[in-house]
Amino acid sequence: MVYAFSTDSLILLVHKFITQSLGGIYTVIQTKAKITVDEWGENLFMMGPYYEHNINTQVEKCEPSNPAIKKAMGALTENGCPVYFGRWLIEGSPYVILFDTKAAAWNVDRWKGDLWDTCGIGLPFHDIEANDSLIFGSMVAWFFKELTDQLGDSPNVLAHFHEWQAGAGLILCRSRKIPIASIFTTHATLLGRYLCAGNVDFYNNLDKIYHRYCLERAAAHCAHVFTTVSQITAVEATHMLHRKPDVVTPNGLNIRKFSAMHEFQNLHSTNKGRIQEFIRGHFYGHLDFNLQKTLFFFIAGRYEFSNKGADIFLESLSRLNYLLRVHKSDVTVVVFFIMPAKTNNYNIETLKGQAVRKQLWDTAHTVKEKFGTRLYEALLKGDLPDMNTILDRDDFTIMKRAIYATQRHSLPPVTTHNMLDDASDPILANIRRIGLFNARVDRVKVLFHPEFLSSASPLLPMDYEEFVRGCHLGVFPSYYEPWGYTPGECTVMGIPSVTTNLSGFGCFMEEHVSDPTAYGIYIVDRRFRSAEESCNQLTQFMFGFCQQSRRQRIIQRNRTERLSDLLDWRYLGRFYMHARSLALSRAFPEKFWMEPLAPPQGFRYPRPGSVPPSPSASVHSTPHHSDEEDGDEEELYDEDEEAKRDRQNIKAPFSLGPT
Ligand code: UDP
Ligand code: G6P
Ligand code: GLC
Repeated sequence: MVYAFSTDSLILLVHKFITQSLGGIYTVIQTKAKITVDEWGENLFMMGPYYEHNINTQVEKCEPSNPAIKKAMGALTENGCPVYFGRWLIEGSPYVILFDTKAAAWNVDRWKGDLWDTCGIGLPFHDIEANDSLIFGSMVAWFFKELTDQLGDSPNVLAHFHEWQAGAGLILCRSRKIPIASIFTTHATLLGRYLCAGNVDFYNNLDKIYHRYCLERAAAHCAHVFTTVSQITAVEATHMLHRKPDVVTPNGLNIRKFSAMHEFQNLHSTNKGRIQEFIRGHFYGHLDFNLQKTLFFFIAGRYEFSNKGADIFLESLSRLNYLLRVHKSDVTVVVFFIMPAKTNNYNIETLKGQAVRKQLWDTAHTVKEKFGTRLYEALLKGDLPDMNTILDRDDFTIMKRAIYATQRHSLPPVTTHNMLDDASDPILANIRRIGLFNARVDRVKVLFHPEFLSSASPLLPMDYEEFVRGCHLGVFPSYYEPWGYTPGECTVMGIPSVTTNLSGFGCFMEEHVSDPTAYGIYIVDRRFRSAEESCNQLTQFMFGFCQQSRRQRIIQRNRTERLSDLLDWRYLGRFYMHARSLALSRAFPEKFWMEPLAPPQGFRYPRPGSVPPSPSASVHSTPHHSDEEDGDEEELYDEDEEAKRDRQNIKAPFSLGPT
């Protein structure tokens, strides 16, 4: 690969969401930081707004060592628009430059005028997010002006802007002819998202759409290089923004390989144990299902009900429940919905469940101690204890009291929190419609956790990664999903998942993996089939999954994990490198040139060796099928051989090189 530039240039990533955990976009910048720092070292700076609370916990403030950066920051700060500098405490510890948009808000009217004079985009008074974006963008453009004045023409500056919220900065830089090379990346188009979300979102946001769209479109057209995160969003952008992206930059992850071969399987097992413990509490008094035969499914992400496919998921769960019941299956499925909504703390019944569980545990522990002591004393005397008297009346009393506490007159709740919009919440409304209320007869139990997970929670003290590892299947049947990190994260942790051919991730997998199903990536067709057909397909995927034996699940997880190399930033980062060199060669053609690149090599991950040629047979054709639930792991050696063979086939995915 020949790029006619070195990493002497300064690269500045401009992002409205820096240090603010808000779904997938945050995951992109956070996971990519490490490889970008490895490439650019001290010349990389991330830029974002200053949020005091987040900064205090995530950023170590320090003085910039680069004098030009320091001077440029000083110019803004001295004029009443404070800028802060530090290291972001994430992997790679990148430098961050943070703009205090609140303190600079007194300029907003003037800056609105500037934007209007520059490009005729007017921002209404009531759209706070758009106004904040303009303040941020105006500060960024001002900063770049000061910086490039300081630097002259060496080193050159390359700025990469993400999303419309950072777009104003790019538009202003270009209209003021500030000498930077610029890239604009969209992670979705505004119109695409609104149009797909259905009427509820659309009508409630009508007054916010047009000017935001104008900012997005102008930014896309002003940039030297325009990129988006998937092929499907590239098509959307071509139509909605009228510019075809120059490069598609798929989203990667930092892949941490575990040294022990089956370490991720062990992690599944231990984390599953923690989820089971929570379930014991939540379903107290109703634990008439076998936890050894219980599968954990989940959906997670920002709460966009139909965009995320929660609608067809609920409908399919109702069908799955029916199928499991008529087939008299002994499998139970517990389904978690992890999507943040407005709440007013945990509900009492849920907290009580965990308290009851703890009480039962403590009681069992106390009785066990007493039993042990008496047994020990009897043995010391050389006697066998009298089992009829080893526990006395008091012991039975405390045990009975504990058992009585587990009686309940209500069903285990379907949500863990008090919802503010209980009556109109779409997940709850659909649960009511399909009648999945965690009744004893139901084989599918549902649990809506309307908050992102945290290890500090008193209810389910696990972080998201631990939770995913403990589950069996992630279900993400999205309708609108430019990329969709959630199934990718499942993949790298060796957890199978459902995705769709309308998500960037699903299309990427279809393109690069010969038989995704065999690897535990189930792709629902939401593009060419009706909603009803997609629902049936999803139901069949889930029902098929429930019919697998433990051994089949173990083998499938091994295969899923093998795909993680495909998603590693070490490979996918190349598309970003390509975009950067293209931007420099377009902005400074006299200094930077690029050989024309051959299109990225189509790479395809082969079907697992042990799977017969027909993909439809792949789920149930895992080797040495045994129905015994206690899978015999020694038999997995064949699978390891298969893994080795597959890995040898993969030398360098995604070679991008000169023609
Ligand atoms: N996520 C999280 N905590 C949770 C659930 C989800 O941090 O409890 C993260 C998850 O790791 C993923 C992101 O939320 O990176 C969702 O990203 P995705 O691209 O799937 O969808 P988006 O929400 O951006 O539309
Ligand atoms: C991992 C562990 C095994 C355990 C299995 C459970 O593979 O290494 O010891 O038996 O998980 O799998 P399951 O799909 O039933 O949760
Ligand atoms: C947006 C998209 C999501 C994507 C993320 C990161 O939030 O909705 O699909 O994964 O950006 O690119």
